[in-house]
Amino acid sequence: MSTLHVLDHPLIHHKLSILRDKNTGVKEFREIVGEISTLMCYEATRELPTVEVEVETPVATAKVRALGDTKITLVPILRAGLGMVDPMIKLLPSARVGHIGLFRDPDTHEPIKYYCKMPDDIAQSAVFILDPMLATGGSASAAITFVKEYGCKSIALLNIIAAPEGINVIERDHPDVDIYVAAVDDSLNDHAYIVPGLGDAGDRIFGTK
Ligand code: PRP
Ligand code: URA
Repeated sequence: MSTLHVLDHPLIHHKLSILRDKNTGVKEFREIVGEISTLMCYEATRELPTVEVEVETPVATAKVRALGDTKITLVPILRAGLGMVDPMIKLLPSARVGHIGLFRDPDTHEPIKYYCKMPDDIAQSAVFILDPMLATGGSASAAITFVKEYGCKSIALLNIIAAPEGINVIERDHPDVDIYVAAVDDSLNDHAYIVPGLGDAGDRIFGTK
């Protein structure tokens, strides 16, 4: 069964209140998506393995822990997932990035794939799939299925806002994948938008509406 991690924290609540506000402009929206992504990265990487190494401080030799040679791959779902990449790379500077382009058919809400480029050795990576919105779960489930086809075993899904319907779909389709979210909202509306949500994440990040 997937483990659902809800980041219940005052900083997250405050930043979400700005993100949800329809009067928040594109500059601030992008910045807040980045700040929340940084906080989510901190939580989602908690189980990464570390190795003991020695460093010389100005005073003595210290045995310390550092990230070993675990490969890390970030997989943003285009478009909106791109808004989560740079803040995560700041914390994970050697991470590689695979891209998957999906958009929802406006009538069926089914995901349609239009682009994909993954690192060659993604199978050995800890993979973090990034998308601000988990609505019906169709896009995230398809993206996870896709990276599994490359042989990936360690996969986590990071969403800023999730609907219960989407969480159920990931738990059903991918019980081996942990889900990290900043908020679980009430429901979906007739257009499969998250309620209350924040509107169309891609449009708000890229200023396309
Ligand atoms: C949004 C969002 C997710 C998807 C979530 O993308 O960024 O990828 O919808 O919906 P789902 O859980 O019902 O699949 P959208 O399809 O609007 O594409 P865009 O990022 O290019 O705007
Ligand atoms: N995609 C979005 O950007 N927002 C939603 O509420 C649902 C899907």
